[in-house]
Order: sequence, then structure tokens, then C-alpha cells
Amino acid sequence: MNKNIFSAIQPSAGSPTIGNYFGAIKNWVSLQDKYSCIFAIADLHAISVRQDPKVLHGNILSVFATLLACGIDPKKSLFFLQSQVHEHSELAWILGCFTQFGELSRMTQFKSKSEKISSSSVNVGLFTYPSLMAADILLYNTNLVPVGADQKQHLEITRTIAMRFNGLYGDTFVVPEPLIPETGAKIMSLQDPSKKMSKSDENESSRISIFDDESTIIRKFSRAVTDSDNKVLKSPDKKGVNNLMTIYSCATGKNDEEIQKEFSNRGYKDFKEAVANVVYEQLKPIQKNFSKYMENENYIKSCYEEGASRASDIAKKTLRSVKEKVGFLV
Ligand code: TRP
Repeated sequence: MNKNIFSAIQPSAGSPTIGNYFGAIKNWVSLQDKYSCIFAIADLHAISVRQDPKVLHGNILSVFATLLACGIDPKKSLFFLQSQVHEHSELAWILGCFTQFGELSRMTQFKSKSEKISSSSVNVGLFTYPSLMAADILLYNTNLVPVGADQKQHLEITRTIAMRFNGLYGDTFVVPEPLIPETGAKIMSLQDPSKKMSKSDENESSRISIFDDESTIIRKFSRAVTDSDNKVLKSPDKKGVNNLMTIYSCATGKNDEEIQKEFSNRGYKDFKEAVANVVYEQLKPIQKNFSKYMENENYIKSCYEEGASRASDIAKKTLRSVKEKVGFLV
């Protein structure tokens, strides 16, 4: 039988960048053909930091439409909104009772997020975020979780919780493994290639949004930081060029050697134009699909409602067995 994949994305503000696309979303799209995939919009996680309700509402809808536009196909995958499947919150409570205070205190994401905001806004949801993430994953007999480096610690604690529960009550949960994408790349800032490209970076020129138009893409790449030797080569001290080569490779499937050969007698100007070109060609159909979906909110609604109902069919079985194991009357 196919292995089960689960992953989720937060409906955070700002359009996704090509970093999100090449690093995660595109990988999810190709996983759909090899595995039985479940993807969710993690809107429950989103309210662990204060959100404006109108803005959040819009973001949830647009992130859902963005993923559809990128190729998450509701016929191949189960795709839904986390807040519409109440089993997530229920299992999160139970798992919270099997998660140690000390373990959560050691989560680096909690530490860094809570340091950034005033202590009066550090709420319990931010602290117990990993138990909810564990619930997301464990409800669906997940074998593999595609995650970036920043979420690996959360996957580790999910495994710990699953093994602890299984140890106490007998086999209940599948213990998931991380799936490190074969291709999926880390795309860096165009302005400071030692930093990850981020949709929240205050410098607009540091990133390419999935929704940037052609001239913006050309302009941003033409201003991308490189170096002065004008040679398209991968090398540890050419961070800017390395990053552009990674982007070109993600968009074309070509490897470093092929790219170096293609641009061996051409300088950065040509190369940057070529990168802009292939990136725009990738984004063009996504942008078109996105507008199409956004004009048809009823279609989007039918997708997430059907997704929630199918997800719940699986989730409720897991939840029922967990409730039985802890001694509840079911
Ligand atoms: N916390 C993840 C992030 O911010 C999103 C997420 C929520 C997730 N639940 C998940 C990822 C379960 C993988 C599996 O990126």
C-alpha cells in the first residue's frame, strides 16, 4: 500500500515566495503521484499569534486557492482546513496530557517566537503548538511528513509523544518519519544570500512573490546581489550566484554542470535575464489559475468542505481508538 503523507501550511500574511514554492509546495505537488497525501491549512495554529479576523479570513482563502493553483489536486489528495475537522483540537488536548512541560519549554520555535513578542502576549496556544501539530500528524496514520529544517524539532516531539502513548497503551499511532525532499531547495534572499528568502522581509527586492508580474521579476533579478567576477559557477564564496543557480535549476530541472556549460561564455546580465525568464514561465500559469479560482469562491468552498468531510472520516476512527485506550466511554 502507498505510504501516507501529511503536511500543513500556515495561512500567514503575505504572498508565498518562490522560496515557499520551490522549497515546499512544488514538492508537495509531485508527492501526490507517489503517495497517499493529506494536506491542510493550519488555521488553528495561526491564531497562536494575534490575527485580525478579516485579514485571517482572507489569508485562509487565498492560501487555499494558491495551493490549488500550484497543483494540489483535490482528486488526488485530501486537502482541507484544519479548523473544520474538530478531531484535531480534541486529540491535541489528549496529547497535551502526554507532553511534558519541560519538552515544550525546549522548543526553539517557541523560544524565539516568545522572545520576539511582549511576555503578556505569550499565550498557552503558542506553547502547546507542538501538541496540536502532533495531533495533525497522528490522526492520519502518517508515515512521512515533508518538513523544512525549522519544523524538524516539532516532528521529533511528535515521534516522542506517539511512542510514549504506544508504550503506555499499546500500538495506537504510526510513528512518523521526516521526509527530506530530494530536490526541494533552500532559496536565499536576493539581497542578502546568507539569509533565507522570506515573505516577511522588509526589503521587497529580497524576494520574488508567486504573484509578481513579469517586469517586477525581471527588475528584482537584475538587482540581485552577486559578485564581481562575472562567471556563472557554483562555489562556496559565491553565495549570490549559487542562489541564482539553485533557482534556475528548480525552474528548469537542469543540474549545476549543465547550467555552467550553458552560461560559460555569458556574464551575469544574461544569466539573470534567463533566470527571470524561466521563473516567470513557471509562475504564469499559477497566476492565471489563482485568479480563476478566486473568482469562484463556491468552487473553493466545495473543495474544502469535501476535504473536511473525508478527513474527518479518517480522523474520527483514530480519535475513537485513542479515547477508548485512555478509558473514556465511547
Ligand atoms: N507548523 C508548521 C509550519 O509552520 C505547519 C504545520 C501545522 C505542520 N501542522 C503540521 C507541518 C503538521 C507538518 C505537519 O510550517
